[in-house]
Amino acid sequence: MSNHAIVTGIGSYLPERVLTNADLETLVDTSDEWIVTRTGIRERRIVSKGEATSDLAAAALSRALESAQASPADVDLLIVGTSSPDMTFPSTACLVQERLGMACPAYDVNAACSGFVYALQAGTAAIESGRARRVAVVGADALTRHIDFTDRTTCVLFGDGAGAVILDSAEQPGVLGIALGADGAGADLLKIAAGGSREPASQEAVDARRTYVTMNGNEVFRFAVKAIPMATLEALETSGCTVADLDWLVPHQANERIIKTVERRLGIPHDRVFSHVDRVGNTSAGSIPLALDDLYTSGRLAPGDLVALVGFGAGLTWGAAIVRWTMAPPVKEA
Ligand code: ACO
Repeated sequence: MSNHAIVTGIGSYLPERVLTNADLETLVDTSDEWIVTRTGIRERRIVSKGEATSDLAAAALSRALESAQASPADVDLLIVGTSSPDMTFPSTACLVQERLGMACPAYDVNAACSGFVYALQAGTAAIESGRARRVAVVGADALTRHIDFTDRTTCVLFGDGAGAVILDSAEQPGVLGIALGADGAGADLLKIAAGGSREPASQEAVDARRTYVTMNGNEVFRFAVKAIPMATLEALETSGCTVADLDWLVPHQANERIIKTVERRLGIPHDRVFSHVDRVGNTSAGSIPLALDDLYTSGRLAPGDLVALVGFGAGLTWGAAIVRWTMAPPVKEA
């Protein structure tokens, strides 16, 4: 294959407002001890009044373009993975496109927390088919806008944020293989019931708190610890690689206990699994590119490293991508 997709730029953005476990203790019957033990999360960033998903996405993409030394005008396609768009339509991608002065087609992908890997698949396919030479792939969510801050079973888990990569067409392979999956039978396990065409927003829906995220945490946990290893192994096989070849596993940052269980099941050493869930919580589609950017800017990703990016989320959905890292380490500021 002559057209391969490689990552040539990366960037991320977290909103400024910090929400700590101590803050949550004042809102619901919870404790820092419970949250840290059950999830590993200590704090998360949340959007402020007037701030929305497209703001986070545009800031992350702007940084990714800068790191690729690419002009917004030179992007052929923009894909934003999100399940918390600014509005039902226009797409968040169109809002970002206008903000950054881009001229390309733009659309959203909704696969909840798997949104970035789904969008990465679409961007990679566009390059491999020759339909685009440069694609911007963003994962962005402001899911705290849909969180019930009187529900302790969900409000301690989520934060907001965005990350983006620039994909370019190249001779050498970068994105080696991707495995995606979905199982709509699990749709009820994690959802926002009202506010769509099934049950439009109404005073009644708001009063019944049906416009907020509801989740069967135990079932989602069980699904996650199966889906992540399964997707990783499938994507590795497609790529002609094994777990032993991996330099880094960058899983969706939902819960430290999920990450540790997956680590054991895959038999991958702890120091090759990236986690910063303690500082950001679950940022949904923003999670994987945020984590990847944090790993990259910390200087621990070297050209030639093999990285697995693995997500799971509402739908149910899951997806893994195996990427041969090609970017040089970031230049340290003097
Ligand atoms: N503070 C204190 N106690 C709590 C809290 C809280 N914040 N939340 C729940 N509890 C209580 C429960 O009420 C329960 O009490 P009980 O025994 O008296 O009934 C007890 O703690 C244990 O509750 P469990 O739900 O069994 O706790 P568990 O150890 O399973 O942890 C958790 C819950 C953290 C939600 C876990 O199940 C989990 O992480 N699940 C996966 C969630 C996830 O990843 N979701 C994101 C998917 S991605 C997307 O697409 C959005």
